Amino acid sequence: MGLIDIAIILLFVSAIKHGGEGRSIYREEDFELEQQLNLLNKPYIKSIQNKDGRIYDCVHLYKQTALDHPNLLHHKIQMRPTSLPKGLTTSSSGGSSHVKPSEIEQLEGGGCPIGTVPIKRVTKEDLIRIRTRSFSNVHLHTVGSPGAHYANTSTKTSGDFVYFGAQAVIVTNNPTLCADTQSSETMISVSNGVPNELNSIDVGWTVNPTLYGDNKTRLYTRWTIDGYRNTGCYNMMCPGFVQTSSNIALDTTLWPISTYNGHQFGSKFSVFRENSSTGNWWFAINDNLVGYWPGSIFTSLNGFASTIVWGGATRSPVGVLYKPEMGSGHFPSEGFGKASLFEQLQLIPVDEKYEFRDLGIQETEPVTDKPNCYGVGDITELGPAKYSFYFGGPGGICGY
Ligand SMILES: *[C@@H]1O[C@H](CO)[C@@H](O)[C@H](O)[C@H]1NC(C)=O
Ligand SMILES: *[C@@H]1O[C@H](CO)[C@@H](O)[C@H](O)[C@H]1NC(C)=O
Ligand SMILES: *[C@@H]1O[C@H](CO)[C@@H](O)[C@H](O)[C@H]1NC(C)=O
Repeated sequence: MGLIDIAIILLFVSAIKHGGEGRSIYREEDFELEQQLNLLNKPYIKSIQNKDGRIYDCVHLYKQTALDHPNLLHHKIQMRPTSLPKGLTTSSSGGSSHVKPSEIEQLEGGGCPIGTVPIKRVTKEDLIRIRTRSFSNVHLHTVGSPGAHYANTSTKTSGDFVYFGAQAVIVTNNPTLCADTQSSETMISVSNGVPNELNSIDVGWTVNPTLYGDNKTRLYTRWTIDGYRNTGCYNMMCPGFVQTSSNIALDTTLWPISTYNGHQFGSKFSVFRENSSTGNWWFAINDNLVGYWPGSIFTSLNGFASTIVWGGATRSPVGVLYKPEMGSGHFPSEGFGKASLFEQLQLIPVDEKYEFRDLGIQETEPVTDKPNCYGVGDITELGPAKYSFYFGGPGGICGY
């Protein structure tokens, strides 16, 4: 038996090991995967394994992936925003008596040492899963599929209004998928620009087995500067997002999950631009700062956001007939405790106050592209929790 035969057998064994997704991995691809892993996984001071087996590397602040971005080679990391918008930690709508706060999964041992940040170690299995399941004609790590459906409410584009941020409490659900290739997400999106040059940041929670390898409800973020065609990615799958928190990982689970006709839990998501020339956009969950997207990676969002969207989306590859649940899997008409909910919607208008304020009446427009599968309600006052809306639905056969 020659060397080549042995090599083929080894490749075959490796194909069996990694080829669970129905595709064999050839040597060249293997090499490419290793290269990609080397780019994504940085040297670490220590690593933390969570109960579910996920490994987080504590990477020195200045060794994180973000700084590989060509525009960030000499970036000076900020540990805090230059100024905090008023109303970030206290909602002017008053507390909610309906939704109890969800907790963020804590990293074992209290998180990473000072000066380091926790970054999910990307495994070869993660990359193979993402590659073999990624939909055609979409950017590997971001979105998109012709089978995406939406139910959301957005600021009206007819106005001349521009924004420095948005926030809301989002109820935590665990929508059921019909296939591992699907995802269901609930998010706040801030954006600016025409479709092909759309600069956008989305923050929220998702069930996304392709990205995470499980069906848990997890935090996620995503950004692009070209309408999710070629730039940007989820979380830290490419250079861009600068992590500053030493104990909140970007893929953390949210817990507990709300139950149908039972307790409702939710988390507050905030995304806001600094009131300074940096143009940095910060992300906070339950009032904890996680990190920021530096203004210099954007082409238009570094100025301001022209549109803010709150709502849900489901993504399925072409050919998967049954669409997954969105939100709680129930229509808005079912109401509190059954349908999923955004509450305490707020935004920061670009003005001298630099302050989160409640949404104005009739300031947003609800839209859904498949009303037979997913719905979105009007903005309502839900007792003390003002500016709330229900959204979601069961999915099913929706048509393309
Ligand atoms: C996720 O849920 C789907 C649908 O219930 C199931 O087929 C799949 O095995 C689950 N995947 C994981 C990774 O748990
Ligand atoms: C926001 O920034 C502008 C320009 O630097 C400054 O004049 C203004 O006082 C700032 N406002 C707040 C509330 O920080
Ligand atoms: C909001 O819904 C509209 C209409 O379906 C859709 O075109 C748009 O992409 C959605 N926006 C986001 C950020 O999901």
